Amino acid sequence: MMSRQILVTSALPYANGPIHIGHLVEYIQTDIWVRFQRLRGHRCLYVCADDTHGTAIMIRARAEGRSEEDLIAAMSEAHQRDFAAFGVQFDHYGSTHSDENRALCGEFWQSLRQAGLITERAIEQLYDPEAKTFLADRFVRGTCPKCGRPDQAGDNCTCGHTYSPTDLIDPKSTLSGATPVLRESTHLFVQLEKLRGFLTEWVDSSGALQEEIANYLKGHFLGEELRDWDISRPAPYFGFEIPDSPGNYWYVWFDAPIGYIASTQQWCQANGESLEHWWKNEACEIHHFIGKDITYFHTLFWPGMLKTAGYSLPTKVRIHGFLTVNGEKMSKRTGTFVSAETYLKHASPAYLRYFYATKLTPRVEDLDLGLEEFAQKVNTDLVGKVVNLASRVGKFAHGTGLSPQYPDDGGLFQAAAEAGHEIAQAYEACDYARAIRRIMELADAANPFVEHAKPWEMKKDPNREAELRDVCTVALNLFRQLSVYLAPVLPDLATKCGELLGEEITSWDQSRQPLLGSPVGSFKRMMDRIQIEDLNKMIEESKAQTDADTPEGASPFDDSDQPLKDEPLAEEITIDDFAKVDLRVARVIRAEQVPEANKLLKLTLSLGGEETRQVFAGIKAAYEPEKLVGRLVVMVANLKPRKMRFGLSEGMVTASGPGGAEVFLLGLDEGAKPGQRVH
Ligand code: 2FM
Ligand code: ZN
Repeated sequence: MMSRQILVTSALPYANGPIHIGHLVEYIQTDIWVRFQRLRGHRCLYVCADDTHGTAIMIRARAEGRSEEDLIAAMSEAHQRDFAAFGVQFDHYGSTHSDENRALCGEFWQSLRQAGLITERAIEQLYDPEAKTFLADRFVRGTCPKCGRPDQAGDNCTCGHTYSPTDLIDPKSTLSGATPVLRESTHLFVQLEKLRGFLTEWVDSSGALQEEIANYLKGHFLGEELRDWDISRPAPYFGFEIPDSPGNYWYVWFDAPIGYIASTQQWCQANGESLEHWWKNEACEIHHFIGKDITYFHTLFWPGMLKTAGYSLPTKVRIHGFLTVNGEKMSKRTGTFVSAETYLKHASPAYLRYFYATKLTPRVEDLDLGLEEFAQKVNTDLVGKVVNLASRVGKFAHGTGLSPQYPDDGGLFQAAAEAGHEIAQAYEACDYARAIRRIMELADAANPFVEHAKPWEMKKDPNREAELRDVCTVALNLFRQLSVYLAPVLPDLATKCGELLGEEITSWDQSRQPLLGSPVGSFKRMMDRIQIEDLNKMIEESKAQTDADTPEGASPFDDSDQPLKDEPLAEEITIDDFAKVDLRVARVIRAEQVPEANKLLKLTLSLGGEETRQVFAGIKAAYEPEKLVGRLVVMVANLKPRKMRFGLSEGMVTASGPGGAEVFLLGLDEGAKPGQRVH
């Protein structure tokens, strides 16, 4: 087999926040791929760095009263600590705020200038005269020009309207509270359109992109004129000043991907290698792992920049979807926004590596971490099937050692050795889900062998020692094959297997030859079951964390604007209009099905004392009657009674939602009493 030379990167995480389980999808995905390549005997270099520049870092450093350098140094340390804890093993972890990166940015810049791709033009932007900085949209709030709601975001209102921050009525800077002013400044642009020929060809025929991504680019961007890319920001800005344009800085997205090269360069310097060998060498493959949100930068700008500056183009850009937790977007409010640090207090990193592996495919689809499913997969697959194979014979094998010849196992070892090709192909294609399925099939086939052989019975009979040794030999060799196949995902398990059997796992080919005639170490527990309570604690702890680490301007809530779009706000009323509606607290004292009605429940509501009302409510699909009895609701008490087919309806209970099962009764906080008016 020809050994390949491969450079691998993961996206550079921003230095303004901690690593969380959403980030980890990508780093674990990449790390598995790198470990797989190494196990196969290829030369693979894995580099990353912190993405340190931009307004957000500048503002945060100011707010914390320290220098940006200080802040990014602390962040880098925290990031590296988290990655290491999850077994993500970089060869080098750099920073975009490095001398190497500054010099490389200068070199790319020169090339773009020489190629005639840079143009200048003045643009108007809101400027905060107190904080003395231009304001990105998210740092401006004001009154919506459409509906008049105050305190809306810089680019959209909760009414669903979108606009530019300069359209806001009475805009305010979120940094200082000052009224921003419009200010003109010169920006520098890359004329991407001039690279259209190259980009189209690259997207079409390089084979670097997943098909769905290539189609998306052709449909969305390459289908029309490519817009000039604004790559400068006026001072003040935390970044690199553009040498031939004083007072202007490269936009963070210009220097970030160049950081891939700068980080490689630092590694090269420390290891006596040449940068050209990795970045200007046709024999070297380059693989970028990224999330779908940064597709544009990596599949249009970045190839354009590399091409212009004479560096190698990516062999593959491998794009993954986002993480959801229990089927929903991660959210601080529900505690599913779990930082790496919090996770580590409650569960083993191996579990997450395994679970993500079972979910990752080469497609750009989102991946769900269902907590129940998570616990179940770890407990059933890893503890129940894989580790079980070793633990059932582990305590006997220390005494017996391994047989000198491989016993008859009904073809299990051979079949598993042959499956190695298919599993390797799946890993290579980033189809870890398929690789794991295949590995678990092997585990399923292996376990019955031990169950039928019953080594624990053999152990009781001194005449059956040879038989016992054979069973141990088969079980441990099948376990070792699984450990080799899982080694990219579960490096610690592979290490433990190597220690037990006295031979470190370093190569995929170890899955093809059984270990024979050697002693077996004393067996130690390899992995514990997940307790669902621990996961619940993790969620609770995440929920409790203050939103102090919420990025500036970002809301910790992530409510959709769909309901408002579905039903826009009603016409204005006066307080007197409102007072006409007599809303009262009421208790449900009886709730019954109405057999002839598909949607209705018949409720008897108490307003306290002897006062009751009968109400028909369209909540049948959403509530079971038994569960309603006793609860407090809010009713419209002065609605004119209405005669219905089933009887008189004397009011209405209040609820939100579009209907059907999606109906939500209004509740009341502890202490409210039936009969009280709702103002
Ligand atoms: O989206 C992000 O988190 C960026 N910090 C990724 C940068 S990747 C590369 F281009 F540097
Ligand atoms: Zn509005």
